[in-house]
Amino acid sequence: MGFSMAFEDELRRTRIVPVIVIQDAAHAVPLARALVEGGLNILEITLRTQAGLEAIKAIARDVPGAIVGAGTVINAGQFAAAAAAGSRFVVSPGLTAEVAQAARDHAVPLLPGVATGSEIMQGLALGLSTFKFFPAETSGGAPAIKALGGPFPQVRFCPTGGVSAKNLAGYLSLPNVICAGGSWMVPSDLGAAGAFAQAAALAREASGLARSIA
Ligand code: 3PG
Repeated sequence: MGFSMAFEDELRRTRIVPVIVIQDAAHAVPLARALVEGGLNILEITLRTQAGLEAIKAIARDVPGAIVGAGTVINAGQFAAAAAAGSRFVVSPGLTAEVAQAARDHAVPLLPGVATGSEIMQGLALGLSTFKFFPAETSGGAPAIKALGGPFPQVRFCPTGGVSAKNLAGYLSLPNVICAGGSWMVPSDLGAAGAFAQAAALAREASGLARSIA
């Protein structure tokens, strides 16, 4: 299943998806609250750590203003676990028929990663038209997305990987970019004093930037 229209509308409104690596599940809810307070309510929790699924469950339960999803999902088993934990969307670094089928089975919107024309064509054949462009900066950045808009005018991208407050505008000003993902607004040590306040401030800066471009 591709992105549902309602979810895509939400992405178009917020335009930035924090990519979050949680080491300690106890950090999940205060971090999510800080990011929502800063104006970013669509949150991707990566399944790269043991705490990922627990973090998704906690945010889904305790932060009603957040739309929480799972990232780094690379197979059907992880997809099922992410859906059971309450993920409202799933992000993958790549595109496989297995993960696309899991998205249909669970009726959860999937944002799969692509970086080439062939991968986009595989996605279109699977009925998808909104993709994560990954890893964005090293795959040619905004000029590559602009160039891909020539042959693929029906495709929308969410560039992720190397996106920051410095290069965000270059991405979000492209007509075929609906949103951008990145970890720059999440402090690396969430256990440090002031980390959540810092996350809220960085989220506020990012959402303000996105609004100024829209
Ligand atoms: C990732 O997969 O880690 C995301 O693409 C985030 O990338 P970033 O840390 O460069 O923002």
